[in-house]
Amino acid sequence: MLRVGEVAGAVQVVEWIMVQSPIGAWAPDGWRTKPARQIPDYKDKALLASVERRLADYPPLVFAGEARRLKSVLANAANGKAFLLQGGDCAESFAEFHPNNIRDTFRVLLQMAVVLTFGGATPVIKVGRMAGQFAKPRSADTEEIGGVSLPSYRGDIINGFDFDPVSREPDPERMIQAFNQSAATLNLLRAFSQGGYADLHKVHSWTLGFVERSPEGERYREMADRLNEALAFMAACGVTAETTPQIRETDFFTSHEALLLPYEQALTRIDSTTGEWYDVSAHMLWIGDRTRQIDGAHVNFLSGVKNPIGLKCGPTSDPDDLIRLIDILNPANEPGRLTLIARMGSDKVADKLPPLIRRVKREGRAVVWSCDPMHGNTIKSSTGYKTRPVDRILTEVRGFFAAHRAEGTYAGGVHFELTGQDVTECTGGAQAITDHALAMRYHTHCDPRLNASQALELAFLVAEELKQVRDDAAGLGIAAAAD
Ligand code: PEP
Ligand code: CO
Repeated sequence: MLRVGEVAGAVQVVEWIMVQSPIGAWAPDGWRTKPARQIPDYKDKALLASVERRLADYPPLVFAGEARRLKSVLANAANGKAFLLQGGDCAESFAEFHPNNIRDTFRVLLQMAVVLTFGGATPVIKVGRMAGQFAKPRSADTEEIGGVSLPSYRGDIINGFDFDPVSREPDPERMIQAFNQSAATLNLLRAFSQGGYADLHKVHSWTLGFVERSPEGERYREMADRLNEALAFMAACGVTAETTPQIRETDFFTSHEALLLPYEQALTRIDSTTGEWYDVSAHMLWIGDRTRQIDGAHVNFLSGVKNPIGLKCGPTSDPDDLIRLIDILNPANEPGRLTLIARMGSDKVADKLPPLIRRVKREGRAVVWSCDPMHGNTIKSSTGYKTRPVDRILTEVRGFFAAHRAEGTYAGGVHFELTGQDVTECTGGAQAITDHALAMRYHTHCDPRLNASQALELAFLVAEELKQVRDDAAGLGIAAAAD
């Protein structure tokens, strides 16, 4: 096979594409001939084309080799040997772009990862909904306030949050700002993950602070204390930040919904090492619940890039369709390529998830099963806010683990919308945020997020589930050994 390997110039790359792309083969712009939902109709087509050309000349945000590394660790999660923690903002915004916000979200994800690693005695793969999570699918095309109807807000990469006609008009230039913000965010995340900020001892001392302050701290203290002892034991054995890079550094990956295809296409490049297409806007991209049509543009686009990808599965996902989608998205049945992110709702998970799991298992498809307990659990509070009760979130997570236990499959990950800030957007949790308290610090531009303390509480509770999985496996191992 002809490889682009060491080719020096763009001309050779183009020749390669012409030789290698027979008619009907996938191409980065192939989605344009498919029905595309949720993509805005830009008025100024010339400006759109100019933005796409500029973006196509920008440097990649991530390297293909990093995306491959993520795929290989996700393969471990598909095989029950690692656990995926994916989380971050529902929508990043231009207004909330601040190093402290990036730091705090990164920090809470690290804290959660340490708790999960310890509870599950399993490596945890950390993937942020960060450095590119800007575009939002909307159920309604328009929003009406006081008799005025305007286009819905679709995320800062597309239009503005302010309710006025100018701000709500989709503006292609916003893609440039989103790219620049993503680049700066990623730069800081890389520094944090490799520069000493991710030191396990430091992360754990923050968690001890949380346990001290939490009204339900007692519940988490036992695990926190055991983790403390484990770290002290390791240090006594000479495993310290000075001697061991794994103590002071971590791998951290980025992801977002691949919704705005003009942007994603502009950032899709041929990897010079393998000659394959990668979307270099993030390590992992996913297809949302509203854009997973088998013949649609989004499925077509992500079928051709080699990044690890996610597919949201909702209560309307049908087992036959799911297998067809898997055929398109992961024809080689490569473990780590596809993560199925179930977002059923706490009241539907017990009914809707098992048939999907069963079918995927029966057909022998290698996938990571992850649980998004956020998007099926959004309600309107008595005070008029869009919110999510922590109880329902936890119920869905428990239902997800129970379904996998019953089907003999592996619950491979969780997907949360969260922020490191002390917001009041989801009700409940140890802080017992009430419907009335939501107004205090309700900052989200889109869906309600867990705050740092709610996120960490959930991590402790998920860790209990993971420990149960581990104990069950050990029990089976003992039983098998005794047979
Ligand atoms: C999201 O993850 O922000 C989202 C919109 O999810 P879903 O596609 O599952 O509704
Ligand atoms: Co959301």
